[in-house]
Amino acid sequence: MAVVKEEEFEFHTGQNRPAGVPDAIQFIDVHKTFGSNQVLRGLSMGLPEGKVSMILGPSGTGKSVCIKHIVGLMYPDSGDVVVAGHSIPSLSDDDLFELRKKFGVLFQDGALFGSLNLYDNVAFPLRQHTEKGEDEIAEIVNRRLSEVGLGNANEKMPNELSGGMRKRAGFARSLVLDPEIVLFDEPDSGLDPVRTALLCELIKEVHAENGGTYVVITHDIMSARRVAEYIAVLWRGRIVEAGPSQELFESENEFVRQFLAGESSGPLGME
Ligand SMILES: Nc1ncnc2c1ncn2[C@@H]1O[C@H](COP(=O)(O)OP(=O)(O)OP(=O)(O)O)[C@@H](O)[C@H]1O
Ligand SMILES: [Mg+2]
Repeated sequence: MAVVKEEEFEFHTGQNRPAGVPDAIQFIDVHKTFGSNQVLRGLSMGLPEGKVSMILGPSGTGKSVCIKHIVGLMYPDSGDVVVAGHSIPSLSDDDLFELRKKFGVLFQDGALFGSLNLYDNVAFPLRQHTEKGEDEIAEIVNRRLSEVGLGNANEKMPNELSGGMRKRAGFARSLVLDPEIVLFDEPDSGLDPVRTALLCELIKEVHAENGGTYVVITHDIMSARRVAEYIAVLWRGRIVEAGPSQELFESENEFVRQFLAGESSGPLGME
């Protein structure tokens, strides 16, 4: 077992300020190590049901690793990840497959299938996971594509789309099964500020319309200001502080202040 130096956690109050609703997702003392790289080091974090939460943290802190634990693509070395009341590491493959139907996941690059056009990409989860006929599928796919502003791009292949369009297409695809939980890994990476702002608006609108628990991973503070209702700040494998976004933006914590204000002086250096 590697030694944990407590002074590394001097800013980690671990404070989970109450959000007033139950948690849809809980990390309980999760440890995850790759070789000698200890990524999650006793991570405890709750993400509230029905809200848009953001996990914020510097590059390489394990944000994508968290998403992979939520969907069961990775398992903790120790500790537990509980999603909608299910302990992910203890689910059988069949039960995990069932639970994944409740998830919409948007990976960092949109992860569209290069050989399928936009319509078939968005229809894919419906054909894979449901018995719906093509008429009903068409109704859902067309509704979701127009919701994200891609109503006229059915026939386009992924390589004909801009980065922003690919992300919106990935978003449309993540919604077709009416997921209870939607996970976005850096929806804003690689987008210019205007497109980032538009995508944030879209996330807010779609959430207001459909509800559900959204978890958005980003290191973009402007995005957090725009869409987050709840924020968890991750650093050195644990939560520094978490809570309703308003409270976090007013936090007295030196690290949280530095990170949320994007300042160069403070506890966070070029590590
Ligand atoms: N499958 C893997 N095998 C080995 N190491 C991994 C694996 N996945 C992630 N890591 C390591 O875990 C650490 C955290 O990676 P992760 O991708 O979660 O960072 P991140 O917070 O998402 O960063 P970014 O903001 O740059 O996307 C990194 O040091 C990475 O090298
Ligand atoms: Mg990442």
